[in-house]
Amino acid sequence: MMERLPEIDGARLLRSLDELAQVGAIEGGGVCRLALSDADRAGRDWTVARMRALDMAVSIDAIGNITGIYAGSDSGTDSGTDSAIDSGTGAAPAPVMTGSHIDTVRTGGRYDGNYGVLAGLEVVAALRQAGVRTRRPLAVTVFTNEEGARFQPDMMGSLVYVGGLPLAEALATRGIDGATVGEELARIGYQGTAAVGAPRVDSFVELHIEQGPVLEQQGLRLGVVEGVQGISWNEYTIEGVSNHAGTTPMALRRDAGHAAARVATFVHDLALRYGGRQIGTVGAMQFAPNLINVIPHRAVFTVDLRNTDNAALRAAEEEVQAFVAQCCEEAGLAWSRRALARFAPVAFDCALVDEVARHAQALGLPAMRLPSGAGHDAQMLARACPAAMIFVPSVGGLSHNVREFTRPEDLVDGARVLMRVLLARADRPLGAP
Ligand code: GLV
Ligand code: MN
Ligand code: MN
Repeated sequence: MMERLPEIDGARLLRSLDELAQVGAIEGGGVCRLALSDADRAGRDWTVARMRALDMAVSIDAIGNITGIYAGSDSGTDSGTDSAIDSGTGAAPAPVMTGSHIDTVRTGGRYDGNYGVLAGLEVVAALRQAGVRTRRPLAVTVFTNEEGARFQPDMMGSLVYVGGLPLAEALATRGIDGATVGEELARIGYQGTAAVGAPRVDSFVELHIEQGPVLEQQGLRLGVVEGVQGISWNEYTIEGVSNHAGTTPMALRRDAGHAAARVATFVHDLALRYGGRQIGTVGAMQFAPNLINVIPHRAVFTVDLRNTDNAALRAAEEEVQAFVAQCCEEAGLAWSRRALARFAPVAFDCALVDEVARHAQALGLPAMRLPSGAGHDAQMLARACPAAMIFVPSVGGLSHNVREFTRPEDLVDGARVLMRVLLARADRPLGAP
C-alpha cells in the first residue's frame, strides 16, 4: 500500500486543459478537432508527448487508439517501452484504465472528452511526483472518433477495441467529406501496430463533464453515473421532383424539403409526447439543389433518438419510420434509410458505481446518481470489464458548443475523485474481486 496519498495539482490540470484547447482553437473559446483531421493529429501529438514526458509506455493500435501505461509495482511492464497493453505474456496484471477522447464536433468546447484524458494524465503526474506506484498498472487511453461527427458510428475506437465492430469495417467507413477512416488514420500517421480486440482491462473509469443541466440545477458538485441511455442514429433520404417555385401549384408539388421538415417537427413532437427520457433531434439536413426558387428534389437528414428504455426507443424508431413512409406516400415521394448507429442502454457496474459514490461522499462533494444523456467510450468498455463514469457540472448545461464551461473547482474535484477511485481499484490485492 502507498504511504501517503498523492494529490492532484489543480493548477497543472487547468494549464493542460488550456494548452490542449489551443490546438484547433476556434472563435469563442471552442475547439474544432474533427476525428482524424490535421487538428486531431496535432492534438494527438501533444497528448503522446505528454504521456512520454510522464515516462508512460505508449502504444497505438490499428484503429488509432492511444494508450499510455504507468507501470504498477507488480506489473513487470517496463516504462518507456512501446509494448501493447495485452502482451499475452500473463506476467503483468491487467491495467485499471481511464481516459476518453480528444476529437471534437466541429463547434466543440474544450472539456468534452479532453477533460477525461487530461485528468487521467494528471493522476499519473501526481502519482509519479509522489513516487507512488499501484499494484496494477494504470492506463490512460485516448479513443479514436468518439464524437461520430465526421465518421459514424460514434464511439468507434472503443467499439472496435472491445470487439463490437470489425476493424476492417471501421477502417472502410466513409465520412461526411468522403474520406475513409483507414485513409485518414494512415494520412495522419496514427494507424498503429498494437492489436485491437478482446483487451485485458481490469476496470474502466471515465471522468467527463455532464454536458447537461441536471447537476447545476440541483446545486450538486458531482454526478455518479449509473449508465448511458440507448442511442439510435439514422439518415433518411427523401426524393421528389425539382420544379419552379413560382409556377408549380401547391397541390402538384413533389417537395422533398417539405416532407423532411414535417419529419423534423414530428421527431420533436414525438419526444414531447413520449415524455420521460425520450429525446429526439434532427441535427443535419441538406436540400438539393438548395436554391430559393427551386422546389427541393432531394432532402437528406439525420434523426437522433435516445432513451434509457430500449423498448420505448424501438417504438420511437418505428413511429418515425412509419411517419416518413406516410409523408412520402401522401406526396408521391420515394424514401430510404441508412442506419448510422444503434446502441442499447448500458448499466454500469454496481460495485464500481458505489465506489465512485463513496469517494464523492468522503470528499464532502454533494452528489447524485444519474444516467448519461451523451454517448461515451465507457459504455463500450462496459462490454469488456466493470466500468463506471464520474460527471462534473456543466455551466448552463451547454456542450457541443464553444461556450461549454465547467468551473475550475469542479474540474479539480472531479479529478480528485477519479484519482481515489483509480487508486482503490489499482491498489487492491491481486486476485481480489
Ligand atoms: C457523442 O458525443 C454523443 O452523445 O452524441
Ligand atoms: Mn465526450
Ligand atoms: Mn461530444
